[in-house]
Amino acid sequence: MLNFDFYNPTRILFGKGKVAEINQHVPADARVLVLMGGNSAKTNGTLAEVKAALASRYVEEFSGIEPNPSYETLMQAVAQIKANKLDYLLAVGGGSVIDGTKFVAAAVYAEGDAWQILTTHGANVKKALPYGTVLTLPATGSEMNDGAVITREAEKAKLFFTSEKVFPQFSVLDPTKSYTLPTRQLANGVVDAYTHVMEQYLTYPVGAKVQDRFAEGLLQTLIETGPQLLENPNDYELQANLMWTATLALNGLIGAGVPSDWATHMIGHEVTALHGLDHAQTLAIILPTMLSLRRESKRAKLLQYAERVWNIREGSEEQRIEAAITKTRDFFESMQVKTRLSAYQITKEDIPALLAQLEKHGMVKLGEHGDVTLDISRTVLETSI
Ligand code: NZQ
Ligand code: ZN
Repeated sequence: MLNFDFYNPTRILFGKGKVAEINQHVPADARVLVLMGGNSAKTNGTLAEVKAALASRYVEEFSGIEPNPSYETLMQAVAQIKANKLDYLLAVGGGSVIDGTKFVAAAVYAEGDAWQILTTHGANVKKALPYGTVLTLPATGSEMNDGAVITREAEKAKLFFTSEKVFPQFSVLDPTKSYTLPTRQLANGVVDAYTHVMEQYLTYPVGAKVQDRFAEGLLQTLIETGPQLLENPNDYELQANLMWTATLALNGLIGAGVPSDWATHMIGHEVTALHGLDHAQTLAIILPTMLSLRRESKRAKLLQYAERVWNIREGSEEQRIEAAITKTRDFFESMQVKTRLSAYQITKEDIPALLAQLEKHGMVKLGEHGDVTLDISRTVLETSI
């Protein structure tokens, strides 16, 4: 097992009715900004519940944070906070709203150009406003981690930052809040969480037995729960299992003491920035190809994955690896998420621009061995068509 430093201060308030407990965790004299996406939090009643829980506190709203939240929109929230002296944030939404809130929390204190938070990947964040979240879409794990991904529309740049200063103080995980999710977003959540586990599990063995078995349990839970949820989105037990699985997939626990990959995510971010695909749609395309092309360096873990997650025990090593990758692709397709670039009319002619963006963003030595060069990324993209 590798050395690690595991820190996670986020309180989780899990279950039906837990929104009311916000009242105990936001300072009584806080001047609160509630941040939201489009309309979902208003139309499904979550906003009303949140406002009731905030009781007599001074509350303002900021809505319009888009999927793949943009710097341009978020800076408007920063201006509102400064103008009205707000001092506590509450994100109500999915990963985009929570990520956007993380950026806003740090940008309020940024010296100079706030975009540098992204270009330094968070290294320059010294302080951030405190905030909590009410999660409405299980997927990203943003509700219990210190990372965020922000897009600068003007530059078509989608970059991440991490900083200990932007862990949420608390997150409400009420599984009934995701009953209203469109099928596409529910399926996206399953694929995103699955890929988060794979980025941290499917590398090379370091003898981290419990991290491996924890990761395998999360994957199996997603394989079992995902298709059932497509049929029964209002099933509390299913939603509860997805929500907690997605949180555990990226709250640092399974990534402690093991190598991690993240090449699929970094290439996926460029596909979203240039072509507008949902985050999970990019992952469903890139991950199977990535595993297939890097099967030599991932061989031991691919065999373990085949046996323990998919129960594949027959055939040669090559056949078992091939079968496990096919199962992965079929699982994503069974969740109604396409696994080819051509499904979104992206062709070979689009690949040079994607590679140029990867180069511009320094994404030239990706993966657990730093050996995913631009040449490999090109092959991955070409093979993903
Ligand atoms: O905007 P509204 O009206 O709220 O609608 C949203 C949005 O259109 C809708 N939605 C959310 N909850 C709903 C709902 N609709 C009905 N009922 C509900 N209960 O869903 C749509 C998508 O929301 P979004 O927040 O964009 O989805 P997701 O949670 O998948 O977040 C994706 C973003 O997270 C980033 C991605 O790159 C992407 O920008 N990621 C963040 C990570 C992190 N912070 O650790 C890790 C991930 O790998 C990922 O990169
Ligand atoms: Zn992701």
